Amino acid sequence: MTETANGEAQPRLLKVTRDDQAKWYVADLSDYYSGKYPYVWLRDNCQCSQCYNKECLQRETLTADMDPEVLPASESVVDDGRALEVVWPDQHRSSYRADWLDCQRFSESQIDPISHPEYQVWGAEMNGNIPTFDYASILSTDKVLYEWLRVLQTTGIALVQRAPKEKGVCRQLAERVAFFRRTIYGEEWQVESKPNVSSLGYTSKYLVLHTDLPYYISPPEVQLLHCIEQAKGKGGENQFVDGWNIVRQLKAEHPEAYKLLSGVPIDYKNAATDQYPFHMKASRPIIDYDLRGELCMRYNDPIRAPYMLMPVEKVTEMYKAIKLFNQVIYRPQNLVHHRLTEGEMVTFNNRRLLHGRSSFEVQAGSSRLLEGGYIDWDEVRSRTRVLREKLYGIKRL
Ligand code: OGA
Ligand code: ZN
Ligand code: ZN
Repeated sequence: MTETANGEAQPRLLKVTRDDQAKWYVADLSDYYSGKYPYVWLRDNCQCSQCYNKECLQRETLTADMDPEVLPASESVVDDGRALEVVWPDQHRSSYRADWLDCQRFSESQIDPISHPEYQVWGAEMNGNIPTFDYASILSTDKVLYEWLRVLQTTGIALVQRAPKEKGVCRQLAERVAFFRRTIYGEEWQVESKPNVSSLGYTSKYLVLHTDLPYYISPPEVQLLHCIEQAKGKGGENQFVDGWNIVRQLKAEHPEAYKLLSGVPIDYKNAATDQYPFHMKASRPIIDYDLRGELCMRYNDPIRAPYMLMPVEKVTEMYKAIKLFNQVIYRPQNLVHHRLTEGEMVTFNNRRLLHGRSSFEVQAGSSRLLEGGYIDWDEVRSRTRVLREKLYGIKRL
């Protein structure tokens, strides 16, 4: 390794050996990292202007043209270990920079922590300890924005404090990241007790622990909830529970219930009129996992459909399992309570956490007003990677 002007270690190719049996090079990139680079993969990822478009950063070679059995004609390490040059049987020449090779990893152990965050599982000890961020600092300082987004990925919940007590705050934050996830309720929405409502959320009633919008095949991922006006009387507190903690306890204590809850789809339906008439339906297990293996809880009693498209023999067992699930989510050791103050926001992973609200008193001349919105992980992660590169110079993967 050598150092750049800013003190960062620069990988160099110390040694490159052929393994024609396995059809890869073994390249020692430093004293501690030795990578395997399959021949066909190298040919596919040739960086020359014929094979790779440097303007739009996209590949122009076609997989259909690759020979998986290809053996390079020759190779050499050049520029004092900074590049590997390969000549192919058709005399095509490729050059691969050592720092580029260092960024390409096949092994699981090198997985990007932003794509696969390490979860910090929590319970009641989070009461009074929810990570907090300052609203103005998130808007002004990239490092604070980066840290807030990382906490959302690892802890799954964060408070954002000292925001103005007015509409538009969720939008400011969403646009600081990227943009809102639009749903049937629009981009941002208000939770307020009002007459003729399309959701129980819009009353002053108690809201049981739930996830939002489980009737979407892909429910929104990060939720922002900003308190513009809190109930003047009693109530209006929020509750949160960490789904990973619930899964852990259910698996250990009620494996049969866990099997039903994670294996048998439950039907959700929401047919009403908000900004326009809608009729949404999805049928997925309460404890669901997405394509990345991440938790996607779908639990929302008020909008569970009356029909249950499961074998009728399973219905009674399913009720038992859901009751056990409720016992676990409401254990005091698992619950976190927080009453938002005016100007405060709670931001959380809507697929991992369940959230609820206690009922509140509506006093004449005042109301309780929250504004909310969603952002999806793809946007959050993309922004986090861009910030990581900008702040820390880390380009890997
Ligand atoms: C909802 C909701 C929270 C609150 O409407 O889905 O979770 O505090 N509201 O009103
Ligand atoms: Zn090429
Ligand atoms: Zn909700």
